[in-house]
Amino acid sequence: DTGKSGYDHYMLKEIHEQPTALRQCLRGRVDELEGDISLESLADLEQSGPVQFVACGTSYHAALYGAALCREHGVRATASIASEYTTDRVPVDEDTLVVGVTQSGETADTLRALREASRAGGRTLAVTNTVGSSITRVCDHALYIRAGPEIGVAATKTFASQQLALTLLAASLSNTSSHREIESLRAVPDQVQTVLDTSQAKAIAEEFVNADAFFFIGRGLAYPVALEGALKFKEITYEHAEGFAAGELKHGPLALVTKDTPVFAIVTGDGKRARKTISNIKEVEARDAPVIVVTDGESEAERYADHVLEIPATDERGATVLANVQLQLVSYWVANLLGRSIDKPRNLAKSVTVE
Ligand code: G6P
Repeated sequence: DTGKSGYDHYMLKEIHEQPTALRQCLRGRVDELEGDISLESLADLEQSGPVQFVACGTSYHAALYGAALCREHGVRATASIASEYTTDRVPVDEDTLVVGVTQSGETADTLRALREASRAGGRTLAVTNTVGSSITRVCDHALYIRAGPEIGVAATKTFASQQLALTLLAASLSNTSSHREIESLRAVPDQVQTVLDTSQAKAIAEEFVNADAFFFIGRGLAYPVALEGALKFKEITYEHAEGFAAGELKHGPLALVTKDTPVFAIVTGDGKRARKTISNIKEVEARDAPVIVVTDGESEAERYADHVLEIPATDERGATVLANVQLQLVSYWVANLLGRSIDKPRNLAKSVTVE
């Protein structure tokens, strides 16, 4: 189905296709009974050395997310912006796995980084949405995210599917998946549906559409999601938006915070990360900034928030997929209120085939 199916924009349609996209991504790959994850194409991929992710744009945020997940699973991993990778002189040898994350499979910067990694003797894996794309010919292995075609220039469902595919990859590379982890993964598509059915994002958009700038903060797995929240916002609203690691705010960006700069804070669970992010929320509150908390309600974050965007309770991995959906909707509705060209933002292309 390539029409808009009654939605005003492809972007909104694709946001709503996420439960289906995520089910597709998981299909046949997780076994709840055995507590097992199997990635067909990677059966013969043994990995003991470091993993380097390379990507651009939204896919780079997925790469940061994937690298953080790998590290949580005990796998050494880093993420690089593909256009910087080649100039970085990242050390690669035959123990290194270089993972290119690219929705289209055609991004020139990403292809170039992978070709150089191959030449240097590294092994390569493509994480892509597009069967038969250039990246699948450049890489030794391919893992498909199975999101289905995405027409809107702003990546939405492909980011969610990258998050899930990279969760599977991290568990598979480290050979560590638990019954519980799989159970919570399986719940994500339905929980995304709940977010779509109950989101207050449109009301938040109406309240803050005329703000000076929009900031997004998170830590841990929520940090790349904060970056992605801001990128999506810039792309389709043309308003000033920035994403920050929650703990980094006080080291400079706090100078930008005023009563006219709403801050979206992602707080999941009630662990150390949540408590620290709550301290950062207090810092911006003290500067009179409106705070919108995206939270599962597990911590006391709501007490310090002017508004709440609720997500169902789950583990941090699932929660950061759900939080991103809330932020997608905020961007969409702000852009809609401003009358922007949502599916084809000015100056941007869906796929960039020049370096
Ligand atoms: C373009 C698009 C971005 C996208 C980036 C990487 O710049 O406008 O939305 O994130 O390319 O695309 P890829 O296909 O490699 O994921």
